[in-house]
Amino acid sequence: MKITLKVWRQKNAQDSGRLETYTVSEVEPDMSFLEMMDVLNQQLIKDKKDPVAFDHDCREGICGMCSMVINGHPHGHIKATTTCQLHMRSFKDGDTIVVEPWRAKAFPVIKDLAVDRSAFDKIIQAGGFVSVNTGSAPEANSVPVPQDMAEKAMDAAECIGCGACVAACKNSSAMLFLSAKVSHMALLPQGQPERKKRVISMMKAHDEAGFGSCTNTEACEAYCPKGISITNIARLNREFLSAALSSEQPV
Ligand code: FES
Repeated sequence: MKITLKVWRQKNAQDSGRLETYTVSEVEPDMSFLEMMDVLNQQLIKDKKDPVAFDHDCREGICGMCSMVINGHPHGHIKATTTCQLHMRSFKDGDTIVVEPWRAKAFPVIKDLAVDRSAFDKIIQAGGFVSVNTGSAPEANSVPVPQDMAEKAMDAAECIGCGACVAACKNSSAMLFLSAKVSHMALLPQGQPERKKRVISMMKAHDEAGFGSCTNTEACEAYCPKGISITNIARLNREFLSAALSSEQPV
């Protein structure tokens, strides 16, 4: 396959950036999108040009690093698929593909397609953990968790923190990410002692990082590679309201 790529090139956060056009020949249909980007980079290095900076790690759809907007779609046009699991067989020979970084105020571009997602780390640091000593793994039946609760908690825990929800949202809201993290602990017994404190401080960190509000467009759910449901956002709103109403501090 021969592919024309229009790739966003930006030296650093201060550079205004531009799309540059490259042609990549000898693309195999079974290559992943990232392998095709590797071929482009080998070509650029051979021509003594600067390779395209992009994030990746596991290349197995687990780590959430491979953040690219492909032809206007975060992670590309295939539903429930990360960029690293997107294969070139889903494009046609001769196609032109536009590749851009996540675009959001809270995710400034570091270089080319790599963005700084430390704003997500700040949300997690604000409360996305259990700080009490839970001891070693208990016997499975000693803390009974109803099956439907366990299923919902595990569905929320599937979030890989890639940021596609933010890239897809016209408000650059991270509410789907935040709601997945809050839900997964609010639904389990281990998350109960810090439940109220957690949701208030994580919501505060979300707003302070510069993410926008949710206006229920559902774009986040449509582009989430793990199929996280926006019903988690409804749960987050209930959790926040209940915590704020019973808080002794102004929220
Ligand atoms: S590189 Fe880890 S999810 Fe894509």
